Amino acid sequence: MTKKDFIPSSYIVHKTEGKVTYRSPSNIALVKYWGKKENQIPANPSISFTLDSCATTTTLSYRKLKVRGTDFSFDLLFEGKPKPDFKPKIKTFFERTEPYLPFLKDYHFTIETSNTFPHSSGIASSASGMSALALCLMELERELANDMDPSHFANKASFLARLGSGSASRSTEGPIMQWGQHKDTPESSDLFAIKYPYQVHEVFHNFQDTILLVDQGTKQVSSTLGHNLMHNHPYAEQRFDQAHKNLTNLQLVFKEGNLSEFIKIVESEALTLHAMMMTSMPYFILMKPNTLAIINKIWAFREASKTHVCFTLDAGANVHLLYPENEKEKIKQFIKNELVAYCENGQYICDQIGTGAKKL
Ligand code: DP6
Repeated sequence: MTKKDFIPSSYIVHKTEGKVTYRSPSNIALVKYWGKKENQIPANPSISFTLDSCATTTTLSYRKLKVRGTDFSFDLLFEGKPKPDFKPKIKTFFERTEPYLPFLKDYHFTIETSNTFPHSSGIASSASGMSALALCLMELERELANDMDPSHFANKASFLARLGSGSASRSTEGPIMQWGQHKDTPESSDLFAIKYPYQVHEVFHNFQDTILLVDQGTKQVSSTLGHNLMHNHPYAEQRFDQAHKNLTNLQLVFKEGNLSEFIKIVESEALTLHAMMMTSMPYFILMKPNTLAIINKIWAFREASKTHVCFTLDAGANVHLLYPENEKEKIKQFIKNELVAYCENGQYICDQIGTGAKKL
């Protein structure tokens, strides 16, 4: 498929107004996307668990303009209040998606959005937010076109979400999403994410993710800036190569349910992501002392308890604890006894692998 396949030919239905709501979850990458080419094309393939409770709900109301606008016309409400600082990101999203959604300047949009997770919890809302908005726009396009093949709908929703934020391409569906061309997955694409197409052992069903909120402040360095620092990075090529290999190895791990190998890949990916940040020019550190304290506690507990809890990190200080459902009781106790003390205001979020966005 090429990006031309996402340019619609013509619309059949005339819609003057309406509204649509989607709830889209966040996701946590196992093999990380870090580094991109022009037009939101990833430098390496990535794979993630779609989450369940951490989600954004977005309602898109649309009203056809009497005369097509010369610019995009939209209002943005976050948790019921106008949010001017989110507008530039939405404008960029509209600019990037307009060639594929030629109706964008024909309507005035009101975008009302809210998150289930606390604002400024350090949890990135761009993945769930851009995915929810892309799905709402696809729903409008489906109405205008009168009908649409479900697989085209799914691929294009992920394609549009990607143009808003790369990781958002992996939030439209679930439970495991893969984005970026990879030799062992012929259906994979740089343009959109697909549902992981191979066998997954039952140990990964209902996999748990507890997010320890270590630092709820705003990040010093945005992901977009961090991605750019992978250009001319001394270890970039080796890193991209490693991501390809880790994806290949993960296929066998998923098939066989080999949790020890899963842990090695996932923790190495998390630490490599942060190693790339520390070796960029300029260099930066997003982990906090409590991030490291938690990692050490996890290692000691895993050794002593013979459980299969492991950690991953996104571009911040918070720690995601991943573990199989049948170890839930032991690990929740461990979190309460030993890890809560390292969380800001004792806060953490219990989530698990989910099936993807839903229309409400
Ligand atoms: C570390 O998707 O937030 O979470 O495409 O610039 O919006 P943009 O970046 P973004 O980067 C996410 C990076 C990551 C790893 C991952 O989710 O794969």
